[in-house]
Amino acid sequence: MTPRAIIFDAYGTLLDVYSVVPDQALAALWRQKQLEYTWLRALMERYEDFAKVTEDALGAAAAQLGIELTDWRIAEVLDAYGRPSAFEDARRALEVLKGRRLAILSNGTMEMLEAALRHNRLETYFEAVVSVDRVKTYKPSPKVYALGPEGLRLPANEILFVSSNSWDAAGAKTFGYQVCWCNRAGAPMERLGFEPDMTVTRLDEIAGLLGER
Ligand code: LAC
Repeated sequence: MTPRAIIFDAYGTLLDVYSVVPDQALAALWRQKQLEYTWLRALMERYEDFAKVTEDALGAAAAQLGIELTDWRIAEVLDAYGRPSAFEDARRALEVLKGRRLAILSNGTMEMLEAALRHNRLETYFEAVVSVDRVKTYKPSPKVYALGPEGLRLPANEILFVSSNSWDAAGAKTFGYQVCWCNRAGAPMERLGFEPDMTVTRLDEIAGLLGER
């Protein structure tokens, strides 16, 4: 069935957060810790917002790698995280998909998401930008995925959920969305017992696939 709306994940899907710090080991561990902390906090039922989790994860990743970050450097890195660049293919995809109902569902706080969209001049493309902050837990909790159908007033199976994070794609599929996994890195599929309905390597491939359906 042709989806009646498209929901995008933000960080890693529309927004390139891997190039915020030049040190690749730190960038990778920071991202991993950030996600781990969201999962741990969700399981512990000890929610802190994504800005706090992101800052804590940066400190933890640096400590694990034996990298000393001054307060000034931490502030600078977090500031850069607040202004990530959109992927070029994301920009092109949004331009082509413009006539459709588009939304964002992200772990990020509204403040972070609005600032990142403003920075990239992408705010006008979306009819809704929804943060997990509303339900005070994180993806892949079904409570988070439920915000999509609620906000768009459509059943999940009539919405295409697009994520580059394969575990997020798995969570969305489990919830009942149609799912597109954007596998830019050519990564192997997670073994969580799900198959995305479609896989692309760039977001600007989506419009063509929808046209054929
Ligand atoms: C987000 C995380 C998954 O934007 O990156 O929700």
